[in-house]
Amino acid sequence: MTDDRSPNQQLLPLTAQALTDHGSSAAHLSIGGCDVVALVAQFGSPLYILDELTLRTACQQYRRGFAQYYAGASQVLYASKAWSCLAVCAIVADEGLGIDVVSGGELYTALESGVLPRSLYLHGNNKSLPELELALNSGCVVVVDNWHELKNLDQLARSRSQNPLVMLRLTPGIECHTHEYIRTGHLDSKFGFDPNDVPAVFSFLSQSTLQCLGLHAHIGSQIFELQPHQDLGGVMAEWFLVAQRDYGLSFSELNIGGGLGIRYIESDDPPSIEEWVQTVCRGVTESFTQRHLPLPKLLCEPGRSLIGPACATAYTVGSRKEIPQGRTYLAIDGGMSDNPRPITYQSQYRAVLANRLDAGADQVVTIAGKHCESGDILIRDLKLPLAQSGDVLVVLATGAYNYSMASNYNRIPRPAAVLVSNGSASVILRRETYDDLLRQDCLPEALHRQTTTS
Ligand SMILES: Cc1ncc(COP(=O)(O)O)c(C=O)c1O
Repeated sequence: MTDDRSPNQQLLPLTAQALTDHGSSAAHLSIGGCDVVALVAQFGSPLYILDELTLRTACQQYRRGFAQYYAGASQVLYASKAWSCLAVCAIVADEGLGIDVVSGGELYTALESGVLPRSLYLHGNNKSLPELELALNSGCVVVVDNWHELKNLDQLARSRSQNPLVMLRLTPGIECHTHEYIRTGHLDSKFGFDPNDVPAVFSFLSQSTLQCLGLHAHIGSQIFELQPHQDLGGVMAEWFLVAQRDYGLSFSELNIGGGLGIRYIESDDPPSIEEWVQTVCRGVTESFTQRHLPLPKLLCEPGRSLIGPACATAYTVGSRKEIPQGRTYLAIDGGMSDNPRPITYQSQYRAVLANRLDAGADQVVTIAGKHCESGDILIRDLKLPLAQSGDVLVVLATGAYNYSMASNYNRIPRPAAVLVSNGSASVILRRETYDDLLRQDCLPEALHRQTTTS
């Protein structure tokens, strides 16, 4: 059965339900047909719970949108920086998506998951030589970000008698209203070629051994406005025209990046996936047609709007601190190491009590992480039912930039992740152990003697 709701407009994964026939009187949250309370009992907490249907639905809505609104060829890529692991790469590839990777590690993960190299695009503003070598060995497309890389790659390709496929990342000079750290299209961004450099880059390319497929731009992330995405088509069409007219470069691909926002809290009101795709297709079609240019193969690379709404993180509630005439803190067994977004971007989240889903939310609490850091607060002023130690708190929309930005701060092992679908759950990331934390540690011989003799 298909679900027409756009996942990025929901607070909960598409399969979320209140479960009442599980043997106790209070309703439990179920995701992917699995009782979240039972998942925590089986796999422990914190636990990332990834709903396969929500992820697949978002992939399908992007692909369906391009088939409906774009007359040329298209390819949706998944920006794997949002969450890179074997299972996620395999699911999006199974849905017909390519993958955008931003490091050797993400490239390696995508390759190991069995994704075809030609559908992989390597980004990065400072790719190392080993990363470029891995890219050339694999046959993926390299999205060249700057002069340093362009020259290194050209030299490397010549030394190996290769003609690798590349694209050029440009800074389009488009402003959008999102957090400063996730805005990338404005002119003083660290990413991409400055427009002033582009003519010289085109000239270099026309003599180069690199095969340039086309141009790329990404204007930022968690964007609710449609206009910047529509405008991007015009900026990029103009560069296609200059490349063809003045440098004899005929590009075939245009990548307009990702950036569609999602609903983290009730007041977030992003456009649907379909509306975003329609806008992008209209912007590109109009601007290329006006300039009498053939429609390029149109690529986009969303991350957050594909995977963000598909995951929720389950925690166990521990201590409670009530400050007279002040806040009530509810502490959970995770925090900034499994979700660094609140402390990094002041991001807001919502949460529910999975073991008392139907209880009235009559308390206002602040959800505190367990890290030794006062700023480790996941949610301020959250309305919840009266919560006690042992309750299961589920933070919503945690699929994007949570696991992928997770750390071992305070030497806290990273959580497990399970993929849920049709009532069954499979581990896709094992919970880290204390031994995993020591995996890279080396104790020099001399220190070893000191610790054992003292
Ligand atoms: C180059 C590039 N492409 C795609 C994305 C994905 O963006 P989002 O997750 O907002 O869709 C990002 C993230 O910032 C990015 O830097």
